[in-house]
Amino acid sequence: MACMAALLALLGAPAGAADITKGGSLYATHCAVCHGARGAPPVMPAATDFRRVESLMRPDMQVLLSIKNGKGAMPGYFGILRDQQILDVIAFLRTLS
Ligand code: HEC
Repeated sequence: MACMAALLALLGAPAGAADITKGGSLYATHCAVCHGARGAPPVMPAATDFRRVESLMRPDMQVLLSIKNGKGAMPGYFGILRDQQILDVIAFLRTLS
């Protein structure tokens, strides 16, 4: 993710760059209830543990789709968070492992 942010900066696309600080506060509001304040231990036992590197070994766009559509016991965030906000949260998640 760090290199992707650097790449986006090189390409001069400031609007597209993910904001980890915003992602962190969105995470605290929407996600920590189940995933735990620091991404683990999960509050809801079935919830993905974000300290495990493997949990996010997928491109941002695939993780984005899981979050938009929901998965298992997790509600979908389509219509609740904008894509840019979800990308901010994903950037934050990638700092947890
Ligand atoms: C109601 C509890 C709950 C909330 C709230 C919640 N999650 Fe989850 N999340 C889960 C559970 C349970 C799973 C495991 C789903 C499965 O694999 O069946 C999961 C899985 C995930 C995964 C892995 C998906 C995959 O494809 O394997 C990601 C990424 C994720 N959550 C991100 C988030 C983010 C970001 C938020 C906040 C915007 C959030 N979750 C809010 C319960 C929750």
